[in-house]
This record gives sequence, structure tokens and C-alpha cells, in this order.
Amino acid sequence: MADDSPAATDEQLGAAVLAALGRVVDPEIRRPVTELDMIRGVDVQPQGRVRVDLQLTIVGCPAADTIERDVRSAAGSVDGVQHVDIDVSVMSPATRAALTERLRAGRPRGVQFTPDSLTRVIAVTSGKGGVGKSTVTVNLAVALAAAGQRVGIVDVDVHGFSVPGLMGLTDEHGVAPRPTRVDSMILPPVAHEVKVVSIGMFVDDVSTAVSWRGPMLHRTVAQFLTDVWFGDLDVLLLDLPPGTGDVAISVGQLLPHAEVLVVTTPQAAAADVAERSGVVARQTGQRVIGVVENMAGLVQPDGSVLHLFGEGGGDETAARLSRGQDSPVPVLGRVPLSVPLREGGDTGLPVVLGAPDDPAALALRSVADAVTTMGRGLAGRKLGLSLS
Ligand SMILES: Nc1ncnc2c1ncn2[C@@H]1O[C@H](COP(=O)(O)OP(=O)(O)OP(=O)(O)O)[C@@H](O)[C@H]1O
Ligand SMILES: [Mg+2]
Repeated sequence: MADDSPAATDEQLGAAVLAALGRVVDPEIRRPVTELDMIRGVDVQPQGRVRVDLQLTIVGCPAADTIERDVRSAAGSVDGVQHVDIDVSVMSPATRAALTERLRAGRPRGVQFTPDSLTRVIAVTSGKGGVGKSTVTVNLAVALAAAGQRVGIVDVDVHGFSVPGLMGLTDEHGVAPRPTRVDSMILPPVAHEVKVVSIGMFVDDVSTAVSWRGPMLHRTVAQFLTDVWFGDLDVLLLDLPPGTGDVAISVGQLLPHAEVLVVTTPQAAAADVAERSGVVARQTGQRVIGVVENMAGLVQPDGSVLHLFGEGGGDETAARLSRGQDSPVPVLGRVPLSVPLREGGDTGLPVVLGAPDDPAALALRSVADAVTTMGRGLAGRKLGLSLS
């Protein structure tokens, strides 16, 4: 069929190209490039040639190739465009400062997740190491993101940061990417639709980090919560080191309104250390919203269940944490021992995405559903009520 519509004017073509560029999203900032002052202009020339003036936020922007490719393909997809030229430059310091200011939405520099922010903050903690905190954190995060929530993870486990690996962000040597910085703003890498920042992205030498003492750890946690640009999040998950050390206390001080999930194993003997991590969280005003029992029974090929780590640890921990509380602390899920779960951790594809029908994936998704249904807690919030 012949197209008898009149050819677009240069102005119309320019507007159409600009509209198409509005669909190009900066992979790190996750906003359209047109909203980030990255398109300085679109110039329409004879014979369908279009010149796009693209300015990147910083010199050596790691996303430069992706952005340039996406800009070229978006502009080239517009009817009437025959050829796309791209002029690449870098923002002036003033433009960049205006942009970071705008992204902070006028918020003063400080911890982004104050009790008044709309983001739910959930800290995943445990008394003992190796019980599956990081595994629960990443699977909850990707399950929530897959359900359409905007999710971030802060990995503050200085001794054993494992979130970059579990999220598939590390290279073949196990090295985590160094986040891009735009002035003082740190852009968290994104994996499986989750923004991730980890202590492991900032240390060259693991042994240096391990020797950090309280004040240094506190400053680092505070910097993550201040300078990492998460944008608007529905949920921020924190992966804590085991126990009740400096990091847990810093998190409690910086985020007194955080909700806390306690991970434990079925081993009843582990219940008192698990309880302690919840009690310390409470002392800073945080609210324990539930217990996740991980490494529960292993289903055998004949259908019987092998309770490798015993039974009852989740219930026991929940019962202890419920004592003296207005409402009992529930066990939000029991995640069985699972080979696909462990493999998903090794390959960086969390089991809820990689093997969604695995019983461990089902259990983790139901924990995510329970957390969502429960809604945001009121811990640490000012209710504005007064008793008369
Ligand atoms: N349900 C499970 N089935 C099989 N393996 C599991 C399960 N949960 C965790 N694991 C494995 O156990 C190990 C420890 O898990 P993970 O790193 O999540 O624990 P952690 O509590 O974060 O440890 P740390 O205290 O060192 O931070 C990992 O290798 C993980 O793959
Ligand atoms: Mg861990």
C-alpha cells in the first residue's frame, strides 16, 4: 500500500526522534536519558540524517557503549530517519552537579531511608554464620523485584560479603564491579532488576576490610545509606554479618525503623543465638517481623524427609522472640535443603529465578509474599497520635 501521508517536516522528525530517545534508559541510573540532560540536542539534516548530541555523565562512563548503541537504535527506528550521527561529549561539572541535585530530589544529603521515607527497610540477620542470610536476602530481593517492586540490597557483611557473587555480579575471578561515581553519588550496579551495593565493591583486599573496626564500619554503612543513589525504592534489604557486632549496632542506630528478619536453622540449639540477634535489633527500636527457618528437611528420592539439622529451631526461635511481645513473631517460612538453591548461589542466578518450581524456591517466594502482605511496620515511626 502506498503511503500517501506527507513527508514529516524537520521539526516533526526531530520531535519524533526525541520521543524515541525518551525510551532509552540509562542502565545505571535507570531513568530515560532525556530526563537526565544527556540529550543536548537533535539536529535534523537533509536526506533523513539526524545528529544527536549526547553527553555522558562522566568521563569513562562504563555504560557509554550501551547508551550510544541504544540511542542509535532508538533514533534509527523512527520513520524517515536514514542515518544517525552521534556526537558524544561529557557533562560540564555544573550540569552534572545540577543533575545529582535533581536526582536527590532536593533531599538534604544524609541517610536516605529516614523513618518518614516510603521505603521499607528490612534487615536480614542471624545469630550464627552460614545459616543462609545472604541466600535468603538475594532470593527475597529478586522475588520482590519479579513481583514488580523496586528493590535494593545493601550488603554490609564485611567479613564475608557474598551478595555480588550470589547476584551474578562478579567476574570470572570473583571480583565485584566497582560502582560508577557521579561526583559524590555512587550508582549501584543492577542485577536481576535489583540495585546492589556491597562492601565487596569497595575493597581491594579482603583482609583490609576484615580488620576494620567499629568507627570505620559505621562510616561505611552510613556512606552506603547516604551516597548510594537508589532512587525511589519500595524495599531495601540489608544483608548483615552474623551476630550482634558493630555492624548490627550501626545499622540499628542509622535505621531504627528497620524491620528485622531472623534466619535460623532447624537445630533447636541454635535458637538462643538466633534470639540474641533479634533482641539486640529490638534494643535499637527495630521490629522483628519474622523468622525464616533455613536448611529444613531434605526430601529424599523415596519421598521421606531427612532432617539433617534437626527440627524445631524456627518455632523455638519464634517462641522466644514472641515472649513479652504484643503480637507473636511468626515463622514466615521453612526453606528446605536444596541442591538447586546452592547451585543458584554458585552461578549467580538465585533459585527463585533459576529453578522457580524447586521446593526451596517456592518456600522463599512465599516468604516474599508474607513480607509483602504484612505491609510496612510502624516501628520507629511517629504516629502523630496523642492520648487525651
Ligand atoms: N537451603 C539450603 N540448601 C542448600 N544449601 C544452602 C541452603 N541455604 C544456604 N545454603 C548454602 O550454605 C552456604 C551458606 O549460605 P549463606 O552464604 O547464604 O549463609 P550466610 O548466613 O549468609 O553466611 P555468612 O554468615 O557467612 O554470611 C552457601 O554455600 C549456600 O549456598
Ligand atoms: Mg552472608
